[in-house]
Amino acid sequence: MTARGLFITFEGGEGCGKTTQIQKLADRIKNLTSTAFVVTREPGGVPAAELIRGLLVNGDAETWRPATEGLLMSAARHEHVEQIIRPALAQNKLVISDRFVDSTIVYQGIVGGVSADDIAAMNKIACGDIYPDVTIILDIDSQIGLARAMSRGEGEDRFEAKGQAFHEKVRAGFLEIAANAPMRCVVINANRTPDEIAADIWQVVCPHLLTSGLIGNE
Ligand code: TMP
Repeated sequence: MTARGLFITFEGGEGCGKTTQIQKLADRIKNLTSTAFVVTREPGGVPAAELIRGLLVNGDAETWRPATEGLLMSAARHEHVEQIIRPALAQNKLVISDRFVDSTIVYQGIVGGVSADDIAAMNKIACGDIYPDVTIILDIDSQIGLARAMSRGEGEDRFEAKGQAFHEKVRAGFLEIAANAPMRCVVINANRTPDEIAADIWQVVCPHLLTSGLIGNE
């Protein structure tokens, strides 16, 4: 079977465990195939976009208005899409991204109040026709997630500092997206052990890898 590209995104609120789960998924795929695939993140993923990330995740919570955040996220995304995601998919590769357009729809749109039309316009410039095939939404109580994220003390805490009410709305926003796009999005309960969560993610991702010819079914 000829492989075709597959674009998987991971989404969720702060401290939902995306990074751990992406690592586990990548390790599992590495054990099954020698085919190269891309693991990346937003905001960031390429040096130009990582520069913009630095502006967004550091400093005072109120530094930027939501629309400014959306424009900066989209500027970073455009470089990420054109430098990494589009070329990889054109080479029929698997791309796994830690966050993508749904984060802008939730953080800047649903929670930040930027209109859906304006967010859609930003995303269109940023992505053109590139869109995730599968989106895993890791769902966790926002208080638990926020406490987990803050206990890491890694800096990059501008969004964490927006407070509990903001993050409750973020959680609800992702669930709203999932309800509106049930063919693409799968919500996974992230308030369990990493292995339990990884097993559920594998159940979702494995059939897509097989259908895309990215792994064999022997
Ligand atoms: P991370 O902690 O998952 O790396 O993401 C950094 C922060 O950026 C996180 O708080 C969510 C926020 N963010 C947005 O607000 N909009 C976006 O479009 C993206 C990609 C991230």
